[in-house]
Amino acid sequence: MKNILFVASESVPFIKTGGLADVVGSLPKNFNKEEFDVRVMIPKYQTIPEEYRNRMYYKTHFYINLAWRSQYVGIFELQHEGVTFYFIDNEYYFGGWTPYGEIKWDLEKFAFFCKASLSALPSLDFRPDIIHCHDWQTGLLPVYLKDVFMQNPYYHGIKTIMTIHNLKFQGIYDMKTVKDFTGLSAYYFAPDKLEAYGDANYLKGGIVYADYVTTVSETYAQEIKTPFYGETLDGLIRARSNCLTGIVNGIDYEEYNPKTDKYIYQNYDARTYRKEKYKNKLALQNELGMAQNKDVFMLGIVSRLTDQKGLDLVDCVIEEICATDTQFVVLGTGTPKYENLFRHFEWKYKDRVSANIYYNNERSHKIYAACDAFLMPSLFEPCGLSQLMSLRYGTLPIVRETGGLKDTVVPYNEFESTGTGFSFCNYNAHEMLNTIRYAKHIYYDRRREWNKMVDRAMAADFSWKNSAVKYEALYRRL
Ligand code: GLC
Repeated sequence: MKNILFVASESVPFIKTGGLADVVGSLPKNFNKEEFDVRVMIPKYQTIPEEYRNRMYYKTHFYINLAWRSQYVGIFELQHEGVTFYFIDNEYYFGGWTPYGEIKWDLEKFAFFCKASLSALPSLDFRPDIIHCHDWQTGLLPVYLKDVFMQNPYYHGIKTIMTIHNLKFQGIYDMKTVKDFTGLSAYYFAPDKLEAYGDANYLKGGIVYADYVTTVSETYAQEIKTPFYGETLDGLIRARSNCLTGIVNGIDYEEYNPKTDKYIYQNYDARTYRKEKYKNKLALQNELGMAQNKDVFMLGIVSRLTDQKGLDLVDCVIEEICATDTQFVVLGTGTPKYENLFRHFEWKYKDRVSANIYYNNERSHKIYAACDAFLMPSLFEPCGLSQLMSLRYGTLPIVRETGGLKDTVVPYNEFESTGTGFSFCNYNAHEMLNTIRYAKHIYYDRRREWNKMVDRAMAADFSWKNSAVKYEALYRRL
């Protein structure tokens, strides 16, 4: 039996700001239980819903030092859907309304979280063989492990994996300040360790010190070796490329299942979608106050509204996207300029544009079920989960060929009758627009071809099964 501990800053169903939480919360359920005991450790944020907080039980507490500070660490435990979750409690750090806020405070918070997580291990009845760290918030964990913790034989032989969900976010601040929160000695603040371009960089620490590095798709693992996608760490990524692999994410096939989904108006599956799926469109049109029409091409976006998602391409040709033969539904929050762009077009074309500038899980399911196509023109996309959800609901993705989008969406080939969606290569608004128009042409003029593509999309398998097997192989190898 191998023991694996995931350490991360978020996990569904407790706390979520992005796809990281979906991965951390759903992947652990999918390992072979005979061979792997996979558990998860996250902060005990004040904003975790009461229903979960009430089910947690207190295990123990102690104090740790972070440089000159002495800080309380409480440990709570909860079983959820067969997985053990541990929560690190400290109201000073985790009492805020959101998991992240001001960067300097976040850096101190997650230095604490890394050190507290390692310190907690001897008081659990679970000694991990491998600690699997996710994103910059846990970058210091492999560093601390090789530092003070090595004085204690309990920690000898524990391996670490660093998974990069998004290289854009690294946790960077000036070295003097970071030295002060972390208590790490000057030795670590050198260019072959934590230092990058004159500052201290948490994710760099994780990439340097982890035994193995993974990212969330094969294409992204290649892309980050280049300056365009490398976010200034491409040199380091190339240097570590013998210990780097890409494993594409999956999604929870129980939660995202059009046949049993409680949130959608009309359930359907690969056999019945021709007769049933459109009822979701009519009901959503009604709910959002759009024109009622089962035949109109409905295009959806569910996303954080940030530059990463390629929304400046949408901005450039939005007038053309919102043509009279199209309905456009958006859900998400982010940069005000994009929020206002969509609000403006809803105001301008009330009958065919709906801007839902908030996040709501239930409504996201309704959109996946109702739309005909789903737009994801990302500038970069380590994996992307929404296109997988769309495929599952028979809603054809229109994507840019980058990262996980390239690895999971097979572009339509009208000559061979293959493909599960539509894609374009260059980061160019008119290339995107032409692809949307091509998709509309297939939808309106060659409906049988469209439906065959929906068949293939719904038959594609992006449950966690295949990816979990790859992580298992990696765990065995370490
Ligand atoms: C980040 C990435 C996204 C990926 C997710 C989970 O949110 O931006 O592409 O799917 O992490 O790995």
